[in-house]
Amino acid sequence: MRAAVIDGYNKIPTVTDVPDPGKVPGTCRIAVSSAGLQPTDLLRVQGIYKQVTFPYIIGGEGVGLLESGERVYFGHSIPSSGALCQVTLVPEDEVWPIDDHVDEDQAIALAIAGTGALIPLEEAGIRPGERVLILGASGPVGQIASLAARRLGAGTVIGAARTRSRLDRLRERGFIDEVVQLGQGDDDAALKAAAGPGYDVVFDGLFGPPAESAMRATALGARMMSIGTRAARNMTLTLRELRGRSHIGVDTGDRAPAVRRAAFERLLTFARQDRWVIDIMNFDLEDIPRAWAAQQGSPGAKIVVKVAR
Ligand SMILES: NC(=O)c1ccc[n+]([C@@H]2O[C@H](COP(=O)([O-])OP(=O)(O)OC[C@H]3O[C@@H](n4cnc5c(N)ncnc54)[C@H](OP(=O)(O)O)[C@@H]3O)[C@@H](O)[C@H]2O)c1
Repeated sequence: MRAAVIDGYNKIPTVTDVPDPGKVPGTCRIAVSSAGLQPTDLLRVQGIYKQVTFPYIIGGEGVGLLESGERVYFGHSIPSSGALCQVTLVPEDEVWPIDDHVDEDQAIALAIAGTGALIPLEEAGIRPGERVLILGASGPVGQIASLAARRLGAGTVIGAARTRSRLDRLRERGFIDEVVQLGQGDDDAALKAAAGPGYDVVFDGLFGPPAESAMRATALGARMMSIGTRAARNMTLTLRELRGRSHIGVDTGDRAPAVRRAAFERLLTFARQDRWVIDIMNFDLEDIPRAWAAQQGSPGAKIVVKVAR
């Protein structure tokens, strides 16, 4: 079968023929239709996130068909099986049925990216009317976080990233109410200008200097939930800047499958009721080097690779 395989640190995946994985007890055999790419796929290859053994098939989530014909979302395939391949093996509790009417690209966006947005925001305990800042609003996680924050009761949702045109488009589509363009020389001033009395909740996919600036623009009692390091892997705050605020790091991948599955199902309901459409960028499996390069940049969309077309 065809699969996107990577064979060493800092290499680029190539599509090649590999043996069929057969069957393994406790796993489901899935004919993959589409598979998602995400920033952690890059971090693994850089040796920053989780331990890997080369060579391996990249990707950790997708949509496909069980041998029974049932349509499912799957995450966390067994390490050797990956997701960017024609057939994969996935532990049974990571295989979640999805209705036929659910668009597969949107389902993939709402899974690892979506739960990475929803779970921290729920844990932040947004109170009705609070001001919520989304750092990295134009990526798939930030787009879903913007929509989820409103659904959870935010009064004003402020989106921040570097590319102004993407933020303006999200405001026009109603994802966010206000825009902060980062990287213009003074993030402290830019974030304070939109903070009003101070941000109550900061959803942070960036870390580093933008998150430091955001913390300095928070209200007393603010909760910052950091889920990604797109800007930097370290940040520094004085005690005075942190006083009366809380800062929590979250990795939703560590949550039990049943917890992630329940969050995914809440997201599917929100998306259906509120007609969410998350930006998607599609590639064919044979085009994996281009998909990889797009993920290395700032795609502004969930990358979904079409395996079966
Ligand atoms: N903890 C979890 O459980 C969990 C789950 C899913 C994802 N994540 C993490 O969440 C983060 C976001 O994921 P994603 O898929 O949405 O990523 P993405 O597609 O790369 O989007 C990143 C966002 O950050 C902005 N950005 C990138 N580099 C920046 C910089 N140096 N300074 C300021 N803004 C910058 C981008 O817009 P501009 O380029 O216009 O600035 C975009 O808005 C990643 O770190 C990912 O690993 C964590």
